[in-house]
Amino acid sequence: MAEPAVKLEGDWQAIGSVVGTASHAAFSFVLKNYRGRVGDVVAVRMRIPSDEAGTEKDSVVWGRVTGISRFNPFFPTEAALELAGENLRPSDTVLSTTRDQVQADCIVLGYTLPGDPTYEFRPLTYPVEPASTVLRPPASALSGLLTGPAGAKEAEVPIGHVASRPDVNVNLRVGPLISRHMAILAMTGGGKTVAARTIIHDLAEKGYPVLILDPHGDYLGFYDNRLKLPKGSSVRVFFPHISLSPENSGIVPVILEKMTAGQTEAQRSALEQLLKDNPITTGHTLGEYFGLLRGKAAQKANSEGGAGQSKASLFVIMRQLSIVEAKLREMGRMNESIRERIRNVEFEQLPDSHRAPSQIISPNQVSILYLGGYDHLTQSTIVSIVLENLFGHRARLDDEIPPFLTVVEEAHNFIPGGTESQEETPSLETLRKVITEGRKFGTGLLLVSQRPSRLDATLLSQCNTFMVMRLVNPNDQNFVRRVMENMSDEDAALLPAFGPGSGIVSGQAVRFPLVVNVDRHQEFESSRMGQEDFLTEAANWEPPRSAAKARESDARQAKRARRRQKRSN
Ligand SMILES: Nc1ncnc2c1ncn2[C@@H]1O[C@H](COP(=O)(O)OP(=O)(O)OP(=O)(O)O)[C@@H](O)[C@H]1O
Ligand SMILES: [Mg+2]
Repeated sequence: MAEPAVKLEGDWQAIGSVVGTASHAAFSFVLKNYRGRVGDVVAVRMRIPSDEAGTEKDSVVWGRVTGISRFNPFFPTEAALELAGENLRPSDTVLSTTRDQVQADCIVLGYTLPGDPTYEFRPLTYPVEPASTVLRPPASALSGLLTGPAGAKEAEVPIGHVASRPDVNVNLRVGPLISRHMAILAMTGGGKTVAARTIIHDLAEKGYPVLILDPHGDYLGFYDNRLKLPKGSSVRVFFPHISLSPENSGIVPVILEKMTAGQTEAQRSALEQLLKDNPITTGHTLGEYFGLLRGKAAQKANSEGGAGQSKASLFVIMRQLSIVEAKLREMGRMNESIRERIRNVEFEQLPDSHRAPSQIISPNQVSILYLGGYDHLTQSTIVSIVLENLFGHRARLDDEIPPFLTVVEEAHNFIPGGTESQEETPSLETLRKVITEGRKFGTGLLLVSQRPSRLDATLLSQCNTFMVMRLVNPNDQNFVRRVMENMSDEDAALLPAFGPGSGIVSGQAVRFPLVVNVDRHQEFESSRMGQEDFLTEAANWEPPRSAAKARESDARQAKRARRRQKRSN
């Protein structure tokens, strides 16, 4: 093997030698001194055929360790069986127990030319050379490789570091992230919310507008710690207040259908007529509009007289309208009572996303829409209306709002797969539009889900960047593999073993798929939610005043009853 001509800069440590059959896509190497771990990026220097026939060129081939195995060729299975049979320990024999071989399996990422400061990355079309030395690159080379030719020119957000290389940061390219959508997928506790928080924090530092759809209050820490964001930033927390506009007219019959037992053909046409006669005027809230429709239906039913079919249909519609009104009121109350328990957060009523969109989306502003207390259908309705309006402003190019990123937690509730749940989910169509056209209008999505297999596959596959963390459920693993074309078998095998905060990131926001450990921005976590310390909560629990009083009065009454009983005896 000819010695490569160009000397590489920095400290490239030799950590092993290529063994076995190597190809253009994968190779294995014997690892010395255990200097390597799964997820490590390694390099091999070798000569490969160049474009001019008969000539060769120097190259640095890059690989990522996908698995490590360990075996001792001097301790065969037969010996182990013999020892077990004789009840002997290996140390009592001449067998060697200290000559383990550690073998690492790698996938090939591509190659660069040695000394190329731009680290232009090319696909390898020639097999890796057996017996080549495997090198551990210095942090500077690995960082250069991750950044690529764009260098510092392109805006990036730091997300964490390469697994087992705390000295090498991983940054996501902002461009694809905010316009071409990203999905963070992991089972519960995998570190999705921590990762999303890290991304939001970095975007907020850049002043990029972010809207967070937050069903559990996981992001209220941004409000608590808003002063830690750069000067001029603001964090506003909204509670749902659904203002309608003519654009949302399609949603009204959907809600009425889904929140009640549905309508017959005759009832549906009565409803259609009612809606046609009483179109939404901008500014109606959902509840107000239902009330108005109910009044109009009553007027119409009374004016028709007799007991005709259309009168009967109108009565059914009226009843359904009042059921929906009551449900919406009840959920509104629930949201309010949860908000009352969340101290020190100034919740604001959600401004009208049609008439005052800049209240919600504005530079240097993180907006959190707190959806707690509402059922899935209503959450989906709210999200559909708000995003439909905001997207409309972007699509009309009316300059009302800047480009923005929407974070969708529990995304499987808003973009479900499976026809049955899709029918129940008004947000699906809206998000479909945002995903397919977001690139043109700067309306990116960050989807977060712990049940990937419940998401709509077609929509999910339109995300251009994925971060997949711990996934144990086989359905979820298979689904993710189907959706992410470039996930290899080796990478899929890593998914169940990831610890919290570790995962594979792949797609347009990075140059090649790699294993990262996500940075945790603990200062933006809320201290009041998500701790799940039920043991302490139960130990410190006291009954509410009213319940305690009720119990005292019950006890007094029982005492009196006993006394009466005694006297009468
Ligand atoms: N990058 C990280 N570094 C260190 N610890 C982490 C990291 N990510 C997650 N963790 C730990 O795991 C816990 C759960 O993380 P997180 O709340 O992000 O999970 P999740 O995937 O959002 O779960 P769920 O689906 O239940 O919402 C955190 O409270 C933290 O203790
Ligand atoms: Mg979470």
